[in-house]
Amino acid sequence: MIDLHAHVLPGVDDGPKEPADALAMARKAWADGIRTQFATPHTLNGAYTTPRSLVLRKVAELREALREEGIGLELVPGGEVHVHESILDLLASGELPTLADRGRHLLLEFPFERVPGVVPDLLFRLRLKGVTPVIAHPERNDELQSSPKGVESLLRQGAWMQVTGGSFTGDFGTAARDLAFLLLDLDQVHLIGSDAHGVSWRPPLLAAVRDVIVRRAGAERARRLFEENPRRILEARPRGAGGGGMPAAPAR
Ligand SMILES: [Fe+2]
Repeated sequence: MIDLHAHVLPGVDDGPKEPADALAMARKAWADGIRTQFATPHTLNGAYTTPRSLVLRKVAELREALREEGIGLELVPGGEVHVHESILDLLASGELPTLADRGRHLLLEFPFERVPGVVPDLLFRLRLKGVTPVIAHPERNDELQSSPKGVESLLRQGAWMQVTGGSFTGDFGTAARDLAFLLLDLDQVHLIGSDAHGVSWRPPLLAAVRDVIVRRAGAERARRLFEENPRRILEARPRGAGGGGMPAAPAR
């Protein structure tokens, strides 16, 4: 499985503090069947400003530690970027962490209470720059929980939806669980992330979630969510570039 969203870099955000904690998380992820994990530290969320250069340095350090410990987990750079007025400037200057460091997909976080009014303009400008916005855990947003049709508007603006695995198992309450399943049933989920923060609290686990998704939506859908769509991001494949009659949208 590929985990699209995880706070695993030590000493960067509210994820693990020490390298040993990060290695314990990596062992747990590997044992659960996660083979590739995007390191997506908080960026521009008011508490942490994590420039791309720091992400790349920390990923290189943790990769080296994984190699020394014989842990096969493949670590991929990324960032969870909060909606912020400086996003486009930082993108232009090369200091915004993008998924897989390919500059084509941006994991974008909203405040939990609402969808900021600036979002349609921001999504449009990102698309103009060739960047596909990936919305982090829409099912945990209060406004989208009250008005799920808001997700359709984001989809029409070219965004992909990344749901947190734990939302399906009730870890974030019934409203998040209900919206996660509604989006899954409507075929409006593209990617799943553990959003792991530690080895015990919010751990890097996805196998149980995959079982839930297989039962609800089938093995083929689970394969798309945990393998095919994240691989499109790893390979920086734009929407509609799949060829062979692929629709102009990510596989769902
Ligand atoms: Fe996160």
